[in-house]
Parts: sequence; structure tokens; C-alpha cells
Amino acid sequence: MVYVSEVSDTLRGDLLGLRSGKFQELADDATRFNRDVGVSGFLLFDDIRFLQYLESPPDGVDVALSRVLGASSHHHVIELQRGTVADRRVPYWLMRWLPVEVKDLTEVAMSAWGGFKVRDDGKALKATAIDRLIFLVSRRALRGAAQPGLSRVKDV
Ligand SMILES: Cc1cc2nc3c(=O)[nH]c(=O)nc-3n(C[C@H](O)[C@H](O)[C@H](O)COP(=O)(O)O)c2cc1C
Repeated sequence: MVYVSEVSDTLRGDLLGLRSGKFQELADDATRFNRDVGVSGFLLFDDIRFLQYLESPPDGVDVALSRVLGASSHHHVIELQRGTVADRRVPYWLMRWLPVEVKDLTEVAMSAWGGFKVRDDGKALKATAIDRLIFLVSRRALRGAAQPGLSRVKDV
């Protein structure tokens, strides 16, 4: 499942005031919970919006999503895509967060969503939204290995 949302004024205020402990708390809380319910995924943040990719057995995503929807740290949650994939794409990331630029997050959010099938190179003109998302994430994430201390989420 993939969605975009806007950061709430409260969390934004915390971040601007450099009291970013709140964001770390949120990420730690999500990681703990995702480990328990078998959710893996990642969270892109451009200082204004979040774009999150979540994968798990069906029940796991539903429970994590109910927590996401109940969070006051963001609003205007818009679901971009929901569907079934054969294998986990990011089994080692319980909730890896990656800072991205506004233009990159905008490009992915505004792309043609319509499935999780990878079709092309993320830079190609006819690239789908998921092609672009994978391209963006691999560019960012390959700079660092998996987060320390993370173990593989249990297999579905
Ligand atoms: C952008 C965003 C992504 C989140 N992702 C997850 C997640 O993957 N799994 C989860 O269990 N909770 C997730 N949460 C919920 C947080 O871990 C946390 O419980 C919640 O934000 C705390 O409530 P508050 O935002 O009202 O202070 C997310 C919340 C936000 C705002």
C-alpha cells in the first residue's frame, strides 16, 4: 500500500524548532509495531509531505494503516495504490525513513499509479509510478546499508 500525506503543524513546529525527538519517537514507535505485525516498508519525507510504502500479509497493513490514519502528526492522507505483490520488496526495513527533495516526492506522487508491476527504468519517459519510486529509493538508500539492528521481517 502507498499513500501520501501532509505533515501536521505540530510536528512541523517540532522539526523547525529542532526538537526532532518527536519524529524519532514516531519512527521508533512505528518500527516496534511493524515488527510485531510483520510489516515492512519505508517512509519518504520532504519536510512538507510523507510518502509511505507498506507491505505485509493483508491483516498487518490494515492494522498499521489504522494507526497511520489515527496519527495527529499528519493529515490529508491520500491512498495512491493498494495491491498484491508476490514477494516483499524491502524485507529488512521495518520502517526505514529517507529524506527526499520536494521535486522528487512530487514526481512520484503525481505519476501514473495503477499497480505494483515494475515495467521500466525509473528514468524512462514511460516509467510507472512504482518504477520511479524504486529508482528514487534505491538512489537514496544505497548510500547506506540496512539500518543497524534490523532483522528480516518474518516471512509471509
Ligand atoms: C507519517 C507517519 C507514518 C507512520 N507509519 C507507521 C507505521 O508504519 N506503522 C505504525 O504502526 N504506525 C505508524 N505511524 C504511527 C506512529 O508510529 C505513531 O504511533 C503516531 O504517529 C503517534 O501519534 P501522533 O502522531 O498522534 O502523536 C505513522 C505515523 C505517521 C505520522
